[in-house]
Amino acid sequence: MCGIVGYVGDRNAFPILVNGLKRLEYRGYDSSGVALAQNGEITLYKKQGMVKAMEEFALAGDTSGSTGIAHTRWATHGQPSDKNAHPHVSNSGNLVLVHNGIIENYQALKELLQDNGFEFHSETDTEVLVNFIQFIQDQEHCKLRKAVRIALTQVTGAYAICIYDKNKPEEVVVAKLGSPLVVGLGINEKFIGSDATPFLEYTKDAIYLEDGEMATLTAKGEIDIRLIESDRAVNTQAHKLQMDLESIEKGGYDYFMMKEIYEQPRAIYDSFRGRLLAEQGIIKMSGLEEYADRFRNADRIIMTACGTSWHSALVAEYLFEEFARIPVEVEYGSEFRYRNPIIHKNDVVIAISQSGETADTLAAIKMAKEAGAMVFGICNVPGSTIARETHAGAYTHAGPEIGVASTKAFTSQVTVLTMMALELGKIRGEFSTSQYRALLNELSVIPKKVEKVLESKELVKEISALYKDASNVLYLGRGVNFPIALEGALKLKEISYIHAEGYPAAEMKHGPIALIDENMPVIVVAPNAGHYEKLVSNVQEVKARHGKVIAVVTEGDTEIVQSADHVIEIPETLEALTPLLTVIPLQLLSYYIAVMRGCDVDRPRNLAKSVTVE
Ligand code: AGP
Repeated sequence: MCGIVGYVGDRNAFPILVNGLKRLEYRGYDSSGVALAQNGEITLYKKQGMVKAMEEFALAGDTSGSTGIAHTRWATHGQPSDKNAHPHVSNSGNLVLVHNGIIENYQALKELLQDNGFEFHSETDTEVLVNFIQFIQDQEHCKLRKAVRIALTQVTGAYAICIYDKNKPEEVVVAKLGSPLVVGLGINEKFIGSDATPFLEYTKDAIYLEDGEMATLTAKGEIDIRLIESDRAVNTQAHKLQMDLESIEKGGYDYFMMKEIYEQPRAIYDSFRGRLLAEQGIIKMSGLEEYADRFRNADRIIMTACGTSWHSALVAEYLFEEFARIPVEVEYGSEFRYRNPIIHKNDVVIAISQSGETADTLAAIKMAKEAGAMVFGICNVPGSTIARETHAGAYTHAGPEIGVASTKAFTSQVTVLTMMALELGKIRGEFSTSQYRALLNELSVIPKKVEKVLESKELVKEISALYKDASNVLYLGRGVNFPIALEGALKLKEISYIHAEGYPAAEMKHGPIALIDENMPVIVVAPNAGHYEKLVSNVQEVKARHGKVIAVVTEGDTEIVQSADHVIEIPETLEALTPLLTVIPLQLLSYYIAVMRGCDVDRPRNLAKSVTVE
């Protein structure tokens, strides 16, 4: 949920730290800070607000130093403020630390430290941790690395930390449990990040620390990885990063979200490239093939995810049950992990996560593994925790998604899940070859059809201007487009702060229709495939009560176009694939309304891109 950056080497650390924090602001941005090693002292700059505010504050001072650690925060303990901003310094003034995660037992540690004369200046669990490490160092009269190791064996919770001692600034210690941390391997320098984006332009060689590992990094470029529990040395192979800098820049768009909406044709193509072989009429997914028997013999598939990823699971429920005839249950990670569910050993669990770091989804995975289920992960970030925790999986290959509102990751997830449903249908013999080939061929041309939908952006912009001041909006869909109604509502509320709800269209008569009046815009997802006639009636029911209807229809529509106030057209496609097209106008609508309302589209208030705490 927070972002950490560190540097030790022979360059000036400050610009590396600040640029790195700006790339991690998607993880949280309520305050930020840097700690620089200068002439045997720690120089600290911390500021509430975006990284830029802290940068301007620091540039008024001395920003020299070739060792530094930095942090951008999403508050967990203690409200956003200068004093709660990281880094935090121990009482002795010797140790300084940044932390992403939650120390569950920080209260007990704080009382122990207070009993030993320690004082606290912030409300954070992080300040407790840095002082606990100092407490251990004082007790054991030991080096920083040993003090960190001993302290962490007595800490419960999740952490990715970076710490150094002002008396030995050429050495930085990092450790990881439950929160991501990656080390960039420079020649006479080492970089640290919550992901690899802070140091992409400096090195493509990286090591993703595993849970329970710590490392000591030196200015001479050495790295010593150990297990926290046993202090046993670990020999980890470096990972060659595939990302490039250009892909994480905005590319001329005002916001990352719009860039990522327009990247969807490419992202969908990349998610099936090398997997969907339309000419040969086959789908090849290595993770699926490796566990084909488990899927073939599964009595049930449980899908677990959060937010938008949960919506892609809902779409998949329709597709898996339709094509593979496997019973599917969809669970919020946060509910699944706590309700003591019945999980059978021959269940297959599919966990879906863009970031691969969502704490609730990760906890659900661990629970399912303990129950003996096979867990298949669908993630977008290579090397992410969920990708490494699951037995097998498939990356969505959508490329870095920076905007907090998920767009290309969603359509890539749906693409991967659609291929899985088709393949499992074939494996389980539930599918005619002609039906299978028809869907395969149509899926292969969906990127072109998404490009066609994107051409309606000016129309969507005009419609957005008419409804940007709405207080409430209803989204309606049926069948495989009911989850799209939910997704459209989530997009709108999370970036424009307008209250919005998604409903199965048929549910209107069971209550929500009471809400309809001339102030209630209703978005109806009504392609000509699947329950169309029922949706025609739903539109008329809304109009009869003076509601305003914006309908997403198939091009050439002749019925709904007569009663809706506005229609946005999508190209004809097969019913099962309509979600990949119907979601696009809803993404654009939420984007334009948010921009017109002056919202920060990429960094909406109260949110972060990756929810790595529960
Ligand atoms: C989506 O627009 C939201 N930002 C949020 O709901 C997100 O989908 C959710 O937090 C799950 O994230 P994940 O896919 O990285 O696990």
